[in-house]
This record gives sequence, structure tokens and C-alpha cells, in this order.
Amino acid sequence: MNRKIKSIISIICLTAIIITGCSGMTNSNISGSQSDDLLWWQKTNAYEIYVNSFQDSNGDGYGDLNGIRSRLDHLKSLGVGAVWLTPVYESPMRDNGYDVADYYAINPHYGTMEDMDALMKEANEKGIRVVMDLVFNHTSDQNEWFIASKKSRDNEYSDWYIWRDPKEDGSEPNNWRSIFGGSAWTWCEERQQYYLHTFAVEQPDLNWENPDVRQALYDIANFWIEKGAGGFRMDAIPYIKKPADFSDGPADDAEGRADIHKMTVNTDGILDFLKEFKTKVTDGKDIFTVGEANGVSADQLKYWVGSEGVFDMIFEFSHVNLEFKESETWCKTGDWKLTDLKKALTDSQKATAANGWYPIYFENHDKSRSIDHFFPGNTDPVLAGKALGTVLLTLRGTPFIYQGEELGYTNVAWDSIDDYDDLNSHSQYEMALSEGFSEEEALDCVHRFSRDNARTPMQWDSTEQAGFTTGTPWLPVHDDYKTENADVESKDPSSVLSWYRKLTALRGEKDVLINGAYSELLSESEEIYAFERKNGNDRMVVLVNFTGEETAYDPDKAGIKEADGEKILHSSYEDIKGAEPASIGVLRPYEAVLIGR
Ligand code: GLC
Repeated sequence: MNRKIKSIISIICLTAIIITGCSGMTNSNISGSQSDDLLWWQKTNAYEIYVNSFQDSNGDGYGDLNGIRSRLDHLKSLGVGAVWLTPVYESPMRDNGYDVADYYAINPHYGTMEDMDALMKEANEKGIRVVMDLVFNHTSDQNEWFIASKKSRDNEYSDWYIWRDPKEDGSEPNNWRSIFGGSAWTWCEERQQYYLHTFAVEQPDLNWENPDVRQALYDIANFWIEKGAGGFRMDAIPYIKKPADFSDGPADDAEGRADIHKMTVNTDGILDFLKEFKTKVTDGKDIFTVGEANGVSADQLKYWVGSEGVFDMIFEFSHVNLEFKESETWCKTGDWKLTDLKKALTDSQKATAANGWYPIYFENHDKSRSIDHFFPGNTDPVLAGKALGTVLLTLRGTPFIYQGEELGYTNVAWDSIDDYDDLNSHSQYEMALSEGFSEEEALDCVHRFSRDNARTPMQWDSTEQAGFTTGTPWLPVHDDYKTENADVESKDPSSVLSWYRKLTALRGEKDVLINGAYSELLSESEEIYAFERKNGNDRMVVLVNFTGEETAYDPDKAGIKEADGEKILHSSYEDIKGAEPASIGVLRPYEAVLIGR
């Protein structure tokens, strides 16, 4: 078949997929599910790929689209039906793609538009839909819209960004601190005005008040739907609406600045913009949307998701930001207890029980590895990885696995701040120094929270550079790659990967894990996270010991007394599989147990 005919057929197939509601596209593990009233994306598992670090196919040290194509079977082995790619658009890469220069072009580091089409087609054939990351709060300063906007105050694009005059003394319009540190305003000589950037200097914020800006963004989203995207992750979405009042905020750092997050997040009126987005882009399409919504809490979920909401799901942050009491300043953390984590998760489960849906996650490309995050100290990483994986894959919602999480990856700790690529690590380091922390303390905070922890290359096998690249990787491979890699773990039935495969397969077999209602058990316990999933007579009990000690529990209180016919389906220690649950009453260090029929 010649190439032209092939590509016509592929376009017809993609169009059919969009129109027919993706029939036959659901993950094969899940097919035969009784959860008929749920949609494909509620019944599948999602996986996030940090494109820079997943698989390089051409030896330039950067992951790319053809690399992803070659690893689709890895996703399939985890029952993945939706893969979220971090931004693949043309970008100067100041923030690794979250600074978009052209939303209609593929970053040459990652390949071409033809590679993207081929990836979508192959992924679709394997029952996996590609989810695009829409970075709509800001663009790159290299985007042609910004290049035009900064030229003058009276051209077509002048009002596409947020420009303000200086204060009378010539200083910034207000004292807001950007999320990546320093003033949120940067002076533009050409226009003789400041522009606002919630993130880096090179990421100017778009002016959503301007209807032309909104329409341009909707056009981009529709372009990607027509290409066959299965959904969108909406980057930094709660910042798109700015308050009418741009006055100073209460200072909270040594330089007298106020956290922009607190000043602009979830501003009244934001939902009107997003309702418009829904009407003009997503309504009636067989795709899903998931908003990155730091600052939107469980009690506000009803406005954001569900029948009255604007998205299908939002990534809520309360369970991953437990140590940040004031702002996300890495050196200013507080303690948290297991009951805080359980409450955060339970609140979101409750808030989406009757209306809306929840994306379950512990990791993404902005967070450190969850094993270190939730089990600081000398934890057994295999057991800890299985413990967290158990919660991830058994709560109610769509699990989002982040690359490497299924392999039990842990943080890196490099010797010097100069070894770090992540721009936020550098600004947090500087901020810590200006707050009076020593260099050693500041580096320690970077070790704990650097985004590079999650960005080291995927480890596929024990060969040099872990099979990620034949060249020099853009970020060093973790030094544990000889033992922690997909190849070794695939062959080891007791590995974290084997556990993930087991539980993702179980989600396909046991409907109750998809449609069962959630209720927390042993809610007072500071050692055990326990909950039940229940749908009529069908139920599953999940018990996870979050401590390194043997921990007794009362099977009665754990709701397993009358569990007739129920048995231990799986334990992360494997040896008690099939045992009578009521006879147990004790969990070994970090043990995770699933009880059901
Ligand atoms: C989101 C992204 C993060 C990026 C920021 C600015 O939080 O997840 O990686 O740096 O937005 O776009």
C-alpha cells in the first residue's frame, strides 16, 4: 500500500474513533466490565510520560516521539488506555516545554508532526489514547504573539498579555513573587511597561480577558482534537483569571514579596472562562479533561468537575502538599501525620462520590519520588513502592501512574546545585540562602524536593545509560539503574513492576475496583490506611501498613469479621495469598493486603 493511501486510511480511522466514541478503544484488561455507565477514561489506567526522559530513539540524549512508539507495549502491560505527554510543542525549553513557542508545531527535539501522527495511530491501535498537555496560562516569550505584543501598545497583539505601568517610583506594579522566585513582573524596554509572569521570566501570562486570546486557545485545542487527541491535561489552570485589583499582597519573604499563588489562584470568574472552553471545545467529544488545579480544594470540586463542572477531573494538591503549611517554599516545611494524608484522600473521594470523578496520583514531573516523599528515611523501597502503588490502584477514580513510579524509583541527591537542571531548584536554592539557610541546608531542600528527582531518564535495562539513549542523556541516569530497571523487574515476580502489573490486571477483573463506593476504615490509625470498595454484595478491603513495624489491627474494626467467603487476594509479601483474612490481624512492615472474593 503506498504512503498516501495509508495516510488517508489512518485519517479515516482517527475520524471514526472521534465520532464513534472510541468504541473498542478501552483497555483490553478492562473489557467485559459491568461498569456500563462509566466512560472509557473512568475504567482505564492513565500514564504520564515526561517526554524528555522516556526513550530516546536518535541518540541525541533527549526522549522523543519515536522512542515512545517503541515502548507502547510497556504501557499496555500496565493496562494503560490513556497516555499524557508533557508538552511536545515547539519551545525554547526554558521550562522543558512548558514555555510554548508554537502550539501547532512539534519540538524538533521530539520529532515531527508525522511522528506525532504515527504515534497516535499506533497507540490507538493498541487501545491507548494520547492526551495532550495544554499550557494556556502563559506562552514562551519566543511565541510570535508575545514578540508582537511587546513591540508596541497599539498593535493587534498588544492586549494579549498582562501589561502594567510601573509604580510612581518606577518599581514593579506590585510585590507579587513568581512561583519560580523573584518578582512576577519583568520590565520591557520596548514597550516601557512591565509584563506579568506567574512562572519564569520567559513565560509571560496570557490575558484571558481578551476574547481573541481565548478563541485562539480554543482553536488550538480543537486542532488537537481533530488530530485524534484523547484528552487534555490543563496546565496551571487556576491562574488564568487575575483579580481586578493588582495591589500589593502581605509580604512573606525576606524581600517583602507576596506569593502570587495566593494572590491570583482560583479568582472569582475563572469558571466563566472555563465554561466557555467547555462549550467551545470539549462538549460532545469523546475525550476527557483533567485540570492541574493546585489551590482548588475538595470542597470546591463540585464547581470544577461533575455535571455542573468544567472538567472531567482535576488534580487536587492537598495530599501531595501536606508539608507546605504556608507556601510551597522547599525550606519551610512542617510535619504531617498519616491521618492528614488519609483525610486529604478521603475528602476528595467523598467530594467526587456522587458527582464527578477523581484522578488518583502520587507523582508527576513536578514532584519528588513518592517513596521518599511519603516514607522519608530508610524505607525498604520495594515494599514502600508496593504500598503506595496499592493505594494508587485501588482508590476510586482513574489512576495516573507517573513514569518510573511503577518501577519504584527513588530520589537522586547530587553534590552541587550546579548539577541540577530544573530552574525551580535553582530559584528555591537562592530563596533558601536569602532566608538565611546555609548552602548545605539549601542543597538538602533541593535533594528533597527537586523536580529533577522525577526527571532522570527511564531505566529500561542494565546496559549503559539504562537503554534510554545511545548518546549522552540530557540529565544523568540514576546510579541504581542496574537493579532498578524494567527488564530486571519484569523477570522478578516480587518486584514493584510485577506488583503494578498484578494490580492493574486486577482492576480489569474486579469491577468493584472500578465502580465500588469508597469508605474509609480504621480512620483514627496513624499506622494503617484501610478502606473498603463496595458495590452491592461485591466488595474489596484494602489494608496498607505505612510503618516499618509490625502493626496489629482489629479485624472487626477493619470491617472484615463477616467477610464470609472472602480471602486474602494479594499481599505484597505474597506468602499469605488465599488465607482467611480474619485470622491475620497483623500487618508486617509496609505490607499491603487486598481482601475480597
Ligand atoms: C505546571 C507544570 C510545570 C511547569 C509550570 C509552568 O505546574 O506542571 O512543570 O513548570 O506549570 O508551566
